[in-house]
Amino acid sequence: MNDKWDTSSKVLSRRIVTTEDGSTSIEIPEMNEMYHSRKGAIKESQFVYIDHGYNLCTSSPINVLEIGMGTGLNVLLTLIESKRQQRTTYFHTLEPYPLNTNEWAQLNFEKHLSIAKETLQLIHETKSDEELEINEYFKFQLSKTKLELCQLNNNQYDVVYFDAFAPNKQANPWQLDNIQKVYDCLRPGGILTTYCAQGQFKRNLLQVGFSVTNPEGPMGKREITVAYKK
Ligand SMILES: C[S@@+](CC[C@H](N)C(=O)[O-])C[C@H]1O[C@@H](n2cnc3c(N)ncnc32)[C@H](O)[C@@H]1O
Repeated sequence: MNDKWDTSSKVLSRRIVTTEDGSTSIEIPEMNEMYHSRKGAIKESQFVYIDHGYNLCTSSPINVLEIGMGTGLNVLLTLIESKRQQRTTYFHTLEPYPLNTNEWAQLNFEKHLSIAKETLQLIHETKSDEELEINEYFKFQLSKTKLELCQLNNNQYDVVYFDAFAPNKQANPWQLDNIQKVYDCLRPGGILTTYCAQGQFKRNLLQVGFSVTNPEGPMGKREITVAYKK
């Protein structure tokens, strides 16, 4: 299947939009794709990645891998939760197409969350692979690369936030070899969570050895996927 995003000779234009819970997100009109649900960026991210990922895991300290940092919203929500729980968190995120200053500056998360705009600046303007200590509980690293190209250690992460574009818009990250890579980098008992519940993706998860569950999704969405490494 063609990968509409990766075969493009240019980075497609991105537009900042406001979702129904008042928080901002990004739209790629040419792909007809959103970074979050139009019904609420913060509500969706909190539900899928914090409630059904970070908070389902009891490891402390905890190692999180995110595929697709995008706006940085999942980073911020995890940062807030780590401080609230006083749980040391190592957060590693992948993003091959980082936002530019003009883009991240238009995001309004500081109006809805207890974070400073400077934190958004820190996570977006860091050098690739630089290790940042955001506070005593939250250590952060952004690798400006694709899941397909990055090297990940086996059995390193407790939770994976799988937040690439939808498989019908961007096939590669969801294919079997990349799902195998994610399985290998999780510790036994580790959790993968994602908004996506596509049939082929779920079959790929089962094929590499995950146990797959499909909790009801947020804001009227039928289901999401939470998978466990055996
Ligand atoms: C649905 S958005 C992610 C939303 C993000 N987690 C947030 O909180 O804003 C998908 C992201 O995946 C990134 N991406 C695209 N191709 C990728 C790849 N091959 N590997 C990892 N990330 C990729 C995109 O640039 C985009 O930022």
